[in-house]
Amino acid sequence: MASLDTYLRQPWGTVHGIPMVSAFTPNWERIDAFQSRPEDIVVVTFPKSGTDVLATMPSPRVVKTHLPAHILPKSFWENRCKMIYMGRNAKDVAVSFYHFDLMNKFQQHPGTWAQYLEEFMAGRVAYGSWYDHVKDYWEQRKDHPILYLFYEDLKEDPRQEIAKVARFLGQELPEAALDAITRHTSFEAMRDNPTTNYSTLPSHFMDHGVSPFMRKGVTGDWKNHFTVAQSERFDQDYTQKMAGTDLRFRTQI
Ligand code: A3P
Repeated sequence: MASLDTYLRQPWGTVHGIPMVSAFTPNWERIDAFQSRPEDIVVVTFPKSGTDVLATMPSPRVVKTHLPAHILPKSFWENRCKMIYMGRNAKDVAVSFYHFDLMNKFQQHPGTWAQYLEEFMAGRVAYGSWYDHVKDYWEQRKDHPILYLFYEDLKEDPRQEIAKVARFLGQELPEAALDAITRHTSFEAMRDNPTTNYSTLPSHFMDHGVSPFMRKGVTGDWKNHFTVAQSERFDQDYTQKMAGTDLRFRTQI
């Protein structure tokens, strides 16, 4: 493999028509051919939707991925693996992803916020269109065992959402276990935990001085970044892209 440095700040690669972090693109046929086990649990999010909250849940093998439904290795669908999807409203995802691309040098440089927002709306960001991502898994849940969760619900009532995950996995957790998981997966606990806050990676790759990986962990931070004009344009475009789905997100709680 080439030195990791050769992948820093490279333009997106492409896999199956989806923009992808260039360091991840070599040997993609191995991803396509990945063999799942029926008891695998797949945790899926579009990037910057709070993946780590779910990935810390105890279980059998947990596979954490950002891949859109149509390029997720077929084996997961064929084996009917349980999937836990977590969606987060597009405006907060865009702001979070922008800050992530600023600090994570494996990402293409995002440019200015105004430029980045256009790229996000056009789906020219890693893993492609947020709109297609959230809608496709929403559709798939009609035929496949997918627990579809929302970041905003998790913020509002973490205990209730953690209990949902446990039930979906066939576990009835005692109150004390629910309390402990709620405590350990809080934003503050994960921000201060070196095994979840990415602080052990060299700053050469991820510069937490630019923006910490565990940035704010709130709903509604988009209001501090979108201008009124950007918000209106985004909403108009959103209505078109999300027409025909009954999937609804909350942009504030
Ligand atoms: P912000 O940039 O808005 O703070 P991912 O894990 O998919 O990369 O998503 C990262 C986003 O989820 C960041 O959002 C991060 O702060 C937030 N996040 C991570 N862990 C969290 C937690 N335990 N509680 C709330 N938000 C969390």
